[in-house]
Amino acid sequence: MTMKQFGPTKLDAALVPKIAQQWGTPIYLHDQEYIENSCQQLLSMPNAFGLHVRYAMKANSDRTVLRVVTNKGLDLDCSSLGEAIRAHAAGIPFSRMMLTTQEVPSGEDRLELEAMIKAGLKYNVCSMTQFKLIADFAKSNNIDLSMRVHPGATGGGESTTRDTGSEYSCFGVHLNDVPTVKAMADQMGIRFTQVHVHIGSGGDPEKWRENIDRELGFVKSYFPDATTASFGGGLKVARMPGEKSADITSLGAYAKQRIEEFKAATGRELQMEIEPGTFVVANSGHIVTRVIDKKLTNEMNFLIVDGGMELLTRPLLYGSEHPITIIRQDGTLLSSEYDQALSAGLKSFGIVGRCCESGDSVRLDKGGNIVPVMIAEPEIGDYVVIGGTGAYSESMSPENYNSHRKPGAVMRTRNGELVQIRKKQVREQIYQNELDVKL
Ligand SMILES: Cc1ncc(COP(=O)(O)O)c(C=O)c1O
Repeated sequence: MTMKQFGPTKLDAALVPKIAQQWGTPIYLHDQEYIENSCQQLLSMPNAFGLHVRYAMKANSDRTVLRVVTNKGLDLDCSSLGEAIRAHAAGIPFSRMMLTTQEVPSGEDRLELEAMIKAGLKYNVCSMTQFKLIADFAKSNNIDLSMRVHPGATGGGESTTRDTGSEYSCFGVHLNDVPTVKAMADQMGIRFTQVHVHIGSGGDPEKWRENIDRELGFVKSYFPDATTASFGGGLKVARMPGEKSADITSLGAYAKQRIEEFKAATGRELQMEIEPGTFVVANSGHIVTRVIDKKLTNEMNFLIVDGGMELLTRPLLYGSEHPITIIRQDGTLLSSEYDQALSAGLKSFGIVGRCCESGDSVRLDKGGNIVPVMIAEPEIGDYVVIGGTGAYSESMSPENYNSHRKPGAVMRTRNGELVQIRKKQVREQIYQNELDVKL
């Protein structure tokens, strides 16, 4: 048997059948070493007066992933009360979290929010309504706030659906509202000690760089009390061969220079904060699926695998591409989009999942048509491994669609062990909250 590695995490092809035999397919696979290394790279970014890195836990909220990341020294960015509570249940204190949410908590949720803020959670105000509702509490408890500013800038995302700073995005306090919110805060003696902008996910790194200048402009004009400027997440990661990741050293060096110039102009030393999700986990993940059927038609060849859009929605949602690797049942690496040496005799296949949706494919064009992938032809029972799936796959999938069960997950540890980190759902978990109502 050939022992060959594939993909950005250099996974041994021989591990794939082992994982499949022990835990079944489909299954999510993560890599501790990759996650730790990406955390380390982020923490080593050049900076002027300190760097604080938060992991945007929406990318992957699994407790083991959260523990690996926080053990490396990253804190968390939470996008809902639910995420904060989930991270807390994983043993992470609220004082290591910032909440940046569209929610406007009321009732019990509001009480939970107050308890979290008292325990040290940083509240990132994202609208005038949120400010008005938190102001008295902040004032009476002497709590400083952060403000997410909507910058009115396009192109921060890899697609329109991932732009969060444009005229079509509602995130944050819009620039036209900033002076009003700031005036209300000043009148009450509430301080905004942090300013935050997140312009989108996976966009052109040049846009990230431009945002630094824009944001430092707001900080100078409106936020005299700010000691931290968060430039958000969104750092691009190359999932496919031929793509280019953001050069975070160069982005850090630029931020450092601009923050030093800010100090020269204002006398103020700003700490830089960032909150990437994708950069930390995207390429740490693979989904292992098995070929369950094959159709060779006049129009297109199809491979039907035992996991698709209910495990990874990004192709359908964003038109995103993920690298495909084909592995035989004995662990032989047949083809990998990362390995040009294995390009002889490839055949074109549309790779589809089990859901009753024509868009249930790992590769689609912008019109939603299936794009065939050039791969070695597998037999039924062989494995199709989808790479670059550590972020926004298990945390954002329409799991349980067609009543498929959410798969389990395995972590390859730093010393190469395979450890199950989440069990596969049992069938009852799909319908356990349904009530037996007699109508
Ligand atoms: C406010 C905020 N911060 C950080 C992120 C993380 O983005 P990425 O995973 O592209 O780094 C997101 C993603 O949507 C976000 O909305």
